[in-house]
Amino acid sequence: MVKKLMGHIGEYKKNMILSPVFMIGEVAMDVFIPYLMAFLINNGIQKGDYDYVIKMGVMMLVMVLIGLFCGTMSGTHAAIASTGLARNLRRALFARVQTFSFENIDKFSSSSLITRLTTDVNSIQNSFQMVIRSLVRAPLMMIFALVMSFVLEPRLGSVFLIAIPIMALVMFFVIKNAHVYFKKMFKEYDHLNNDVQENLLNIRTVKAYVREDREIEKFNKVAEKLMDFSKSAEKIVILPMPLMTVIVFGVIIIDSLLGGHFIVNGEMEIGNLTTLFTYALQVMMSLIMISMILVMVVMSMASAERIVEVLDEKTTIENCENPIKEIKDGSIRFEDVSFAYKGGDDKDVLEHINLEIASGETVGILGGTGSSKSTLVQLIPRLYDVSHGAVYVGGVDVRELDLTALRDQVSMVLQKNELFSGTINSNMRWGDANATEEEIRHACELARADEFIDGFELGYESKIEQGGTNVSGGQKQRLCIARALLKKPKILILDDSTSAVDMKTDAMIRSAFANEIPNTTKLIIAQRISSVQDADKIVVLDEGKIAGVGTHEELYAGNKIYKEVYDSQMKGGDDDAA
Ligand SMILES: Nc1ncnc2c1ncn2[C@@H]1O[C@H](COP(=O)(O)OP(=O)(O)OP(=O)(O)O)[C@@H](O)[C@H]1O
Ligand SMILES: [Mg+2]
Repeated sequence: MVKKLMGHIGEYKKNMILSPVFMIGEVAMDVFIPYLMAFLINNGIQKGDYDYVIKMGVMMLVMVLIGLFCGTMSGTHAAIASTGLARNLRRALFARVQTFSFENIDKFSSSSLITRLTTDVNSIQNSFQMVIRSLVRAPLMMIFALVMSFVLEPRLGSVFLIAIPIMALVMFFVIKNAHVYFKKMFKEYDHLNNDVQENLLNIRTVKAYVREDREIEKFNKVAEKLMDFSKSAEKIVILPMPLMTVIVFGVIIIDSLLGGHFIVNGEMEIGNLTTLFTYALQVMMSLIMISMILVMVVMSMASAERIVEVLDEKTTIENCENPIKEIKDGSIRFEDVSFAYKGGDDKDVLEHINLEIASGETVGILGGTGSSKSTLVQLIPRLYDVSHGAVYVGGVDVRELDLTALRDQVSMVLQKNELFSGTINSNMRWGDANATEEEIRHACELARADEFIDGFELGYESKIEQGGTNVSGGQKQRLCIARALLKKPKILILDDSTSAVDMKTDAMIRSAFANEIPNTTKLIIAQRISSVQDADKIVVLDEGKIAGVGTHEELYAGNKIYKEVYDSQMKGGDDDAA
């Protein structure tokens, strides 16, 4: 896993190596300076040799400067390497997510993907920076300090030999236990992000339903839970600090007792003892640092797992080998198609669908909510793959067609369609990046969007807010239809795309379609029968099965469901209520 992440270090490998190299220099200086101090005290101060003190002082100053330089360089390279790694990881993740199919996205959920791209990458970045700086610094400093202690005074240095195994044991215990809690903590982060995202995206609904208090309460609960898990994890993490301190000061006390004894007996000099204290503190600092790094590494392991999970995720919808790029015509055929959403209860939401649509036909699709209308049409541009049977476009199984070619030719206005922040023009160019102003205007005319766009002060250069919040529901739908038309597709699918458009405009859009794009196959999902009444054929879906196919007259005469819906909609004459 670590190898997998490190594969993304790329051009920053150089910095990753240079940082610990400079660190060696800094540590060497850190350890030598107290050593010189011992000489300075023993030979200079104790003997009153002022020149010696100056000489040693200058040497120490030079060492400090070298140490400073090495430390700065090491820090700079570590920062470059870790931010570089984070950038590369984010790029790779983002690119990976773009290849995901609807099914992959269903599996991860958007908010979890957001956490992975932000919090998790941050966590990797921080611990990576810490590791390349300190994982070299701390053990090195500990070893240097230990060696120097032995060189200086083997009898006192050996006290460490008892202390270090105890500390190692403490650290082992921490690492073993913290991982579980951090994993839980990150899961809770997902929930928190989920709640925040849902609330903020739908803040208008929250306000309309006066749900603020309930939402706050819900959020507080998640925040509370996150705190609990973080607390449990942190508690374990904090544990080694005081323990280490106790052990090291124990070492210092024993050293003082023994050292004092040696000095009184004239077996040791005072300077050596003060320097030994410095080394003891350095060993303690190193150990605390090591335990901190290890905890951080453990913590980021949870993040690493979550990142690698995304990087390793295979898209469920891919081009086959040698895909066919040419889509002959806009004919569609469903052959014994069944479909179940994965991850749900795996129940078939479409069962044994057989349906033939000729190129250029206009087909209406009717059915109650949840009757799988959207599911049915999403199989045509391969937003999902069938579980059983096959869908053919232009006489070829969609799984054998090139995905880009297929989706260029099958233009779909999704039920939950979105506009993106930018201008009307920039949104339109999603349909065709090279569309001329003339083409954009024409598409907008067909979708009856021109009338309100001309009313805007800036016309086609009017700003669209993120999610299209500054246009009305009906306006948004008309813009989405225009955008889909700009692809000049062979098949156009409108999934409940005129539900917010008034009946008159709806009729005008349909007649424009009939006159201007007669050769495009048009699939229209609607709740209002009037939207599909004049179609070449109407498909009635009921609980994932086809309950009838025919023209309005045929169905009205022979299909019970259709007749019921028609009568109920016509009775009140108030179709908009349907
Ligand atoms: N992404 C999904 N994951 C799991 N189940 C889903 C998913 N989308 C839809 N379903 C289920 O599939 C069934 C059919 O849903 P679908 O959206 O196709 O209905 P619909 O006819 O378009 O309804 P509506 O008229 O409300 O748009 C429903 O039972 C729904 O719960
Ligand atoms: Mg639907």
